[in-house]
Amino acid sequence: MSQDTIYSKKLPSVPPFEFNENVAGVFNDMIHRSVPLYRETVKRQAQLAARFYTKGTAIIDLGCSNGNFGMRLLNEMGKRPLRMIAVDNSAPMLAIYQKLLDNHPSGNQIELIQANIQDLAMEPASVVILNLTLQFLPIAERDALITRIHQTLTPGGILLITEKVIHEESQLSALQQEFYYRFKGENGYSNLEISQKRDALDNVLVPDSVETHTARFNAAGFTKVDIWQKWFNFTSFICMKDEEES
Ligand SMILES: C[S@@+](CC[C@H](N)C(=O)[O-])C[C@H]1O[C@@H](n2cnc3c(N)ncnc32)[C@H](O)[C@@H]1O
Repeated sequence: MSQDTIYSKKLPSVPPFEFNENVAGVFNDMIHRSVPLYRETVKRQAQLAARFYTKGTAIIDLGCSNGNFGMRLLNEMGKRPLRMIAVDNSAPMLAIYQKLLDNHPSGNQIELIQANIQDLAMEPASVVILNLTLQFLPIAERDALITRIHQTLTPGGILLITEKVIHEESQLSALQQEFYYRFKGENGYSNLEISQKRDALDNVLVPDSVETHTARFNAAGFTKVDIWQKWFNFTSFICMKDEEES
């Protein structure tokens, strides 16, 4: 795993964060050191996806990056066949994912699509994954995407979503930030790396609060919503579509 040193030297000016070739090359190191409980999140999401997947439908991974979820899911499914569509707009991320699929005996069950997830023509799905990706969409486009996901889910289907969140109360928000930067420091990021990455993500990653997410899920039609994992400013939700809905 190549080490993430992208922000280790003082940059004359910090460009906005992009999922480009440099980031794709160090993505696994970056995400494990920057997202608390990442391994646990992907593992449980793969287990949930395998549990809720129904034959004749798809699993759709929106913002799939280099395939950590997909590869985990293939192992989780074992010999059970599946249809999965994995979507990302970053070509370097998908190139890494495709190589992993080419080297996996059941890798041909996952179809990679390079597209903006807002533009994707969806197909009936029993599971949709939206992991650490909604936060990168313009705020004005988030409601419509969640509504389309609700529409594309089959009755009893699930949306699994993890996001960086912001607390609505300022002292609690500051406490979450403090512990988040502490976590990054414990994982070997210097103060310079932490502050330059924060600048790069400013206006690129815009977190919502748990309340905003929950209201959006409810407005889209999800009545069964649970937070199955929470770590300060990171939250994993499961949203279930009612059995009797179509
Ligand atoms: C933090 S990563 C997601 C991590 C991944 N889901 C995982 O669990 O390992 C965000 C991904 O979303 C992709 N992305 C961001 N905005 C997108 C958009 N509008 N359409 C498609 N992909 C997008 C980025 O290229 C990036 O690979």
